[in-house]
Amino acid sequence: MRDTVRFLLGDELREIRTVDPTLTVLDWLRIEERRTGTKEGCAEGDCGACTVVVGRLDGDRVRYEPVNACIRFLATLDGCQLLTVEHLKAADGALHPVQQAMVDCHGSQCGFCTPGFVMTLFALYRTDPAPGEGRIDDALAGNLCRCTGYAPIVAAGERMYQLGAPGADRFAAAETETVKRLQDLEDEETVAVGDGARRFYAPATKSAFAALLLEHPDATIVSGATDVGLWVTKQQRVLPAVIYTGRVNDMRGIRETKDGFEIGAAVTYAEAIGPLGRAYPDLGELIRRIGAEQVRAVGTIGGNIANGSPIGDMPPALIAAGATLVLRRGDERRSLPLEEFFIAYGRQDRKPGEFVESIRLPKLWPGDRFRAYKITKRFDQDISAVCAAFRLRVEDGRVADIRIAYGGMAGTPKRAAATEAALLGQPWTEDVVRAALPLLQQDFTPLTDWRASAGYRAKVAANLLLKLHAETADPAAETRLVGAQALTRPSLTHA
Ligand SMILES: Cc1cc2nc3c(=O)[nH]c(=O)nc-3n(C[C@H](O)[C@H](O)[C@H](O)COP(=O)(O)OP(=O)(O)OC[C@H]3O[C@@H](n4cnc5c(N)ncnc54)[C@H](O)[C@@H]3O)c2cc1C
Ligand code: FES
Ligand code: FES
Repeated sequence: MRDTVRFLLGDELREIRTVDPTLTVLDWLRIEERRTGTKEGCAEGDCGACTVVVGRLDGDRVRYEPVNACIRFLATLDGCQLLTVEHLKAADGALHPVQQAMVDCHGSQCGFCTPGFVMTLFALYRTDPAPGEGRIDDALAGNLCRCTGYAPIVAAGERMYQLGAPGADRFAAAETETVKRLQDLEDEETVAVGDGARRFYAPATKSAFAALLLEHPDATIVSGATDVGLWVTKQQRVLPAVIYTGRVNDMRGIRETKDGFEIGAAVTYAEAIGPLGRAYPDLGELIRRIGAEQVRAVGTIGGNIANGSPIGDMPPALIAAGATLVLRRGDERRSLPLEEFFIAYGRQDRKPGEFVESIRLPKLWPGDRFRAYKITKRFDQDISAVCAAFRLRVEDGRVADIRIAYGGMAGTPKRAAATEAALLGQPWTEDVVRAALPLLQQDFTPLTDWRASAGYRAKVAANLLLKLHAETADPAAETRLVGAQALTRPSLTHA
């Protein structure tokens, strides 16, 4: 075991032995390091004021990701490079192109949100040398500004590329050296640190992870901490022991086979969106609607399933697709259809010492159609009022197979068993679909909460089934706001 957390703060090596397992990167920066450029707005991952950039090894490159420092635990930085707004200015005082662009475009007024915007734009600059239409808007969806307005900030996102090519800045020049330094920090040891009785563990292999969890069955598993972080910052929960999945390399990959994908539980949304989106375009679009870049950079599919939330977006989509969950306890594994994992509100089929190891997602059969729809009050960074997903096969005009799953309609993500049964074998016509709609009331008794009323949920659930029919019966039917963001924003180029 290694009893220190090691990471680079800029290019400075930090080794920390005593640390509160749930100390956030934000509190560490502001309170212990007095680096106050990084701001606290909401402390729950929503506003982006605390955005920092975390670099981690990805083969022989550094993958730079925008991260909400308010809900990221410091000890999870082991093996990474942390960059804050203070790192951008050069030693001679010259502003980085991102900073200069914000000045040129008047992208700041009170300035409270500005460091967060600068760091999000910096991550975009580092990772995307030529962002396409709508990409800057998408990158900034997790940053809120209350006074400047977004137009000048988006303009700065365009301007920064005119001030210097990303491949030519000093971070690009230092990348080979940074890679080498991060490689030097890699090892197979389990990191075990703490502040006395409370412990943080970061194993590097699945078998070490499984053994640790057996030894500490009451420990809290932490992946991206985009849920767990809020237990700490909002509910003030004290977690005596934390076991982190993010260093376990063999839990992070997606393996493609002839029939499907084996998705490691610690795969992040940012890692999944490419491969899964190519096989299941609507799944890719659904992932793009989860949180914002900061959440997708660290949030995991495994965490979205394991938290058991009735309004998580992945479970209905994966249930409809026919996914299977692989659970592991020590060396024992079992698998179950994903829908069976969710027993009741707040109760999942997971034993002490057991963890989600992977998710098996079958590929679509020829002729299968998959659709997923997310209904929220706001397009970006919003939790679903209702999420619906469908896998449908029609042969000779009749429904040969159909799987329907909804989130937000019950205490768990759930299949619409009665509706499925009514449609199976029937002609795939609008009349038949309309006749089946009342069965959704047999399948679900939705609740009223601040996201939607029960009546709204019931209505929208029925409409989404009709939408599935409209889209599959007539592929030319215009049912989607394609490029809606681009249409609502006038083109802004710095003069
Ligand atoms: C601003 C913001 C926006 C969000 N938007 C969305 C959204 O649009 N849609 C949505 O569905 N969710 C959303 N979320 C919720 C959250 O991002 C997701 O649920 C995410 O997938 C959780 O993954 P994580 O890796 O961060 O999990 P964590 O927070 O690390 O863990 C979540 C739970 O899963 C457990 N866990 C984690 N990994 C494992 C494992 N391998 N085995 C067993 N248990 C495990 C943890 O102990 C915990 O109970 C949002 C969150 C924030 C902060
Ligand atoms: S302070 Fe709002 S996202 Fe971190
Ligand atoms: S400049 Fe004031 S909140 Fe953005």
